Amino acid sequence: MKLGASSRFAGLLVVLAVTWVQGCKGGSAQQDRPALADAPSASAPQEKPGAQGADPPRWGVLMPDVGRRFELIGRAAKARRWDFAELQLEQMEKVFKQLHRAKNPGRAKDVNVPSMAEAFSNTHPPELRAALMAADEPAFAAAFRRTSETCNSCHKMAGYPFIEIPSEPGATVPRLDP
Ligand code: HEC
Repeated sequence: MKLGASSRFAGLLVVLAVTWVQGCKGGSAQQDRPALADAPSASAPQEKPGAQGADPPRWGVLMPDVGRRFELIGRAAKARRWDFAELQLEQMEKVFKQLHRAKNPGRAKDVNVPSMAEAFSNTHPPELRAALMAADEPAFAAAFRRTSETCNSCHKMAGYPFIEIPSEPGATVPRLDP
């Protein structure tokens, strides 16, 4: 008798707690949504019942990281800091893999930009890595230049021709000189 009453009470508490938590999550998702449009949202799975996983990765959030890593790869290789360059390459590769799942940027015209990110992943990181592992400066310079050409052609096709990636290792990424 006593046990039955307390377990019924416990059951009610669980129901209340779940309702309360869902209410909070729903509320914060609505409030946070406009201001944090570009930030990864922890409450994303609650927004659409049945939606699995988080929001798709965003170009505007991840590309600054790609730019920084690519600049560091070039600077490190120029300083013959091959291991550090390889670490940056590995990180840049991980970011590109996330972008395979991104949406097509709104400015892109008649091109599938995420599939270009996949083509990038299959081509350039392996070539850069081989040159870094061999500590082969001329091979690295050539791989770096070819990579930058693909960076720039994607920026053009995606509707951002003004984001220019330099072809020389060691230069600032993106190019900002007049
Ligand atoms: C598959 C297409 C694609 C490839 C390949 C690509 N980018 Fe981008 N990049 C984009 C798009 C789309 C944007 C615009 C996103 C934004 O900034 O809103 C962008 C923006 C940038 C920006 C500006 C980010 C900002 O908002 O400040 C930098 C820097 C950049 N890319 C660097 C690189 C570098 C370096 C490479 C090559 C190693 C590269 N990108 C390759 C699609 C690409």
